[in-house]
Amino acid sequence: MTFHSVVRGCGAYLPSRIVTNHDLAAKMDTSHEWIVERVGIHQRHMAQEGEYTSDLATQAARQALDRAGISPESIDLIVLATTTPDDTFPAAAVTVQQKLGAHNAFAFDVQAVCSGFVYALSVADNFIRSGQVKSALVIGAETMTRLLDFNDRGTAVLFGDGAGALVLQAEEGALQKNDSQRGVLSTHLYSDGRYRDALYVDGGPSRGGAVGYVRMQGREVMKHAVEKIGASVKKALEFHGLTPQDIDWFVPHQANIRIINAVAKHFSLPMERVIITVDQHANTSAASIPLALAVAQADGRILPGQLVVIEAMGGGFTWGSAVIRW
Ligand code: ACO
Repeated sequence: MTFHSVVRGCGAYLPSRIVTNHDLAAKMDTSHEWIVERVGIHQRHMAQEGEYTSDLATQAARQALDRAGISPESIDLIVLATTTPDDTFPAAAVTVQQKLGAHNAFAFDVQAVCSGFVYALSVADNFIRSGQVKSALVIGAETMTRLLDFNDRGTAVLFGDGAGALVLQAEEGALQKNDSQRGVLSTHLYSDGRYRDALYVDGGPSRGGAVGYVRMQGREVMKHAVEKIGASVKKALEFHGLTPQDIDWFVPHQANIRIINAVAKHFSLPMERVIITVDQHANTSAASIPLALAVAQADGRILPGQLVVIEAMGGGFTWGSAVIRW
């Protein structure tokens, strides 16, 4: 028997506290104009004290389950993409399992930084394709602002907190490469550890015990992001025999409007078919794609049967893309 996975529900959660560029400019040497011009961010949400990644993830997952009309008990697998788990262990996914009451699932975290959601989707999709899992929750959730050094204006203005989630369910039968049936058509993943120093956190449980702060060579990241994202989307389209014109919605990782514009221009994609949330959410790492999907589904842009392409790149470097018939 063969299977494929279909998106049944999509949810999101943003902490209630909004921090504008003007709020940041009151505390550090930056300006609203600089941030908007260089990255396209106007505001970000920040988790409150005592509000953890698992809290954000649980809210997003509940909304996705409600929209899918599925009970937590019927979930077999929870894959949570995060770089900012509540604790070093257990996995934040297990805490989310407990909070949801998803007692029949097995749960674990995936860590691929900003590409985490594409990785988590790939993992869950492969469990479903193998027949081992019937229903999965795929979550991206982050409290990235906990990793920021507010003395480093080059990184402190870029990130925000949030969570998004998808419910996937198994359907019988394998999808063809350019199938018109709904489902996850493919995922393509990549990494290259030689670029570790371009974007990393200078701490961790094994390296001295402290959590550390985000460190980044911004120009180096920018250069590789445009090139690597472009190559991974091209590969995915070629794999399916599709052209950019076939894409109904392009949902990129929301790091930087200049990266998004450059990739869209490369594929001659009109910006009306690109989902943008970076202005409102900033870079929420693994949460950015499912948050953008949830926004665009809730406002009626993404509709069942449409072709959605997602992509991301992040620390590592890791990068990848997925093609979904929504
Ligand atoms: N406010 C005001 N000035 C600033 C700020 C700030 N927040 N940050 C840096 N500057 C200043 C610098 O100090 C420098 O000043 P100087 O010329 O007096 O020395 C000037 O701005 C230019 O600095 P650069 O770092 O060269 O600026 P650049 O044009 O490269 O922009 C940026 C920096 C926005 C980070 C850019 O490199 C970038 O967008 N890179 C991509 C990084 C990214 O998106 N990372 C997200 C994580 S990875 C991912 O998700 C894909």
